[in-house]
Amino acid sequence: MDESQNNVTSQELQSDEVTFDAQLRPQAFSEYVGQDKIKNSLSVFIQAAKQRGEPLEHVLLSGPPGLGKTTLAHIIAKEIGTSIRVTSGPALERAGDLAAILTNLSEGDILFIDEIHRLPKTIAESLYPAMEDFALDIVLGKGPAARTIRLDVPKFTLIGATTRMSSLSAPLRDRFGNLFHLDFYTDNDVVRILRRSAKILSIALDENAAQTLANRSRYTPRIANRILKRVRDYAQVKSDGIITPEVTHEALHALGIDGVGLDDLDRKILQTIIEKFSGGPVGLYTIAASLAEEMQTIEDVYEPYLMRMGFLHRTSRGRVATERAYEHLGIAYKFQAKNLFN
Ligand SMILES: Nc1ncnc2c1ncn2[C@@H]1O[C@H](COP(=O)(O)OP(=O)(O)O)[C@@H](O)[C@H]1O
Ligand SMILES: [Mg+2]
Repeated sequence: MDESQNNVTSQELQSDEVTFDAQLRPQAFSEYVGQDKIKNSLSVFIQAAKQRGEPLEHVLLSGPPGLGKTTLAHIIAKEIGTSIRVTSGPALERAGDLAAILTNLSEGDILFIDEIHRLPKTIAESLYPAMEDFALDIVLGKGPAARTIRLDVPKFTLIGATTRMSSLSAPLRDRFGNLFHLDFYTDNDVVRILRRSAKILSIALDENAAQTLANRSRYTPRIANRILKRVRDYAQVKSDGIITPEVTHEALHALGIDGVGLDDLDRKILQTIIEKFSGGPVGLYTIAASLAEEMQTIEDVYEPYLMRMGFLHRTSRGRVATERAYEHLGIAYKFQAKNLFN
């Protein structure tokens, strides 16, 4: 059984989470907490495009899951006052899928392609002329008799989102006029997000409890909201609905989230590297196989935070657990020459 399916780090939206998510999702820049540089740049670009009566240049949003890429795409559409068509890399299987979507757009519309790094290569290639010249080359027939016709598509703005910029081909990346990398939020921002969510959900949230929750939320809005939701249940049953520090600690303990926000799988990853592979370096493939987890999940969902916290290094020869990781897990650190990374 895959534990990550049911923990707060999971990428999948849990079934009861859909309405909850819709309630909390910011609808405008003014509600979108933090990421000030990105918000400011986008506001200027949107205003300038509007004044010129042109569509906004294509936007690429990258960063770990749960930081607000999808939210931002919808806000951009709202601020421009246009419609947004949503699809994802894996959903576009044939060139015809893309052609159908593009030819059905209206002038100025936004096409949002989530997980754009998973777009099949041939489809990514047919996207190039669409992005550059608002044209689509369609091949009719097969073999020597095949010919290509060029279709016009409405001037649109592509917004791509990706958790792994490195998997995006250079030609695709270069066709985006605006590239933004979303970084983890500050503690302060997470506290603000928690307060905002608590207000929307009419939850009484104690100041200290808010701080504790922020410290355990991996600097990630989606996780902050998820934990808040679980803690609310505890508060309802145990403390008249008020989220106190006591009830917060109890809930976090039950969720298996430790003092620095690591969950069970985070700790298992570090433990595996330390105990089975003497601290590394060990390849991602080997770690994933020994935990029966998917490589991509470990790399995109877990490692960014472990690295951010200084528990893990990625080296050319594999992953290495740092001295801090040993300390955190209470395992004696034995320095090994082979751990030297360069
Ligand atoms: N800047 C923000 N301010 C407030 N809430 C946010 C912010 N960014 C994300 N969220 C919350 O986190 C949830 C996850 O964001 P989402 O856009 O789905 O992340 P991503 O697409 O990057 O995985 C949203 O539903 C929203 O409630
Ligand atoms: Mg998303």
